Amino acid sequence: MNPTILAFETSCDETAVAVVRGTEALSNVISSQVDLHARFGGVVPEVAARAHVESIRSLTHKALTEAQIHPDDLDGVAATAGPGLVGALLVGHSFGKATAWARQLPFVGIDHMEGHLMAPRIQFEEFQPPAVVLLASGGHSQIVHVSGWGDYETMGQTIDDAAGEAFDKLARVMGLGFPGGPAIDAASDDGDGDAVKFPRALPDRPYHFSFSGLKTSVVTYLDKAKKSGDLPSLADVAASVQEAIVDVLVDKTFAAVDATGSKVVGGGGGVLANRRLRHRFAEEADKRGVTLAMPDPILCTDNAAMIGVAGAHWLSEGRLTDWAESVDPSMVL
Ligand code: KG4
Ligand code: ZN
Repeated sequence: MNPTILAFETSCDETAVAVVRGTEALSNVISSQVDLHARFGGVVPEVAARAHVESIRSLTHKALTEAQIHPDDLDGVAATAGPGLVGALLVGHSFGKATAWARQLPFVGIDHMEGHLMAPRIQFEEFQPPAVVLLASGGHSQIVHVSGWGDYETMGQTIDDAAGEAFDKLARVMGLGFPGGPAIDAASDDGDGDAVKFPRALPDRPYHFSFSGLKTSVVTYLDKAKKSGDLPSLADVAASVQEAIVDVLVDKTFAAVDATGSKVVGGGGGVLANRRLRHRFAEEADKRGVTLAMPDPILCTDNAAMIGVAGAHWLSEGRLTDWAESVDPSMVL
């Protein structure tokens, strides 16, 4: 059974609606709020929730129209239930539930991180368990061993900041603006990643990450360089910061691939949109002859197609969400 699902994602600052059939995305529309939040240097929860309310109805029409699907053709509705900002989550979840209720369709609440984890299924049929997946976003960084759909073991995770959070904080330190990941990615063009050797944390804990110390060392480095008048180019510093984060994400993910003997490696979450990280993943997968399931950047950052794929999966398995259930901002995979 390949159910046709209307899916909503509003956990943070993207309002996203998609129509998915099985693992195929029939439409995937996103309205980014980046410009609304940029002047605050980060996502303002109340502003995010209000913007979701304003755009969700028209985006739903757009998603259905682009998919050429009439609401009568839908088999179910899915929405992100957590983790995320509570007010933001409630918009998509309540709108999804109300739509399902009104049209007498089943409703499935989805874990945002499981959405990221399932996103590679949209483009890669060969993305099947057992697999190792790196999930790296603004709030999470974890290496997951997938033994089956729904059977996930977190082998390691960050003990402080998430990788995306590190990019965002470091970009602020470098005066590159918000969101930091894409800014550092762009600023690294023509930079030398080996120009400054920033520390790689937790070498003794093979699958765990720590990024908070990196910020201190970058701040210290920039202060010293300014005082000495010997300031390297912004491109070199950005590329070196990026290399420090990418190095540990890649090394630890592939240590997990080696340890588990996995033949498939995947990625999900906004940080996987990083060009240097994608390049390194491809190199390491190629070296080992393992299948790389790396979705296009638009499917790595927040989107509703990934929620639809997870929704279609759980609907097929008969796992529905009770009407009384609400969102859970601190949901754990
Ligand atoms: O998954 P996502 O879109 O939203 C969350 O669930 O958090 O991830 C957002 C994070 C942000 O921290 C952003 O800076 C980072 O992903 N990001 C990137 C890139 N694009 C987005 N980090 C590094 N390089 C990028 N190109
Ligand atoms: Zn996300």
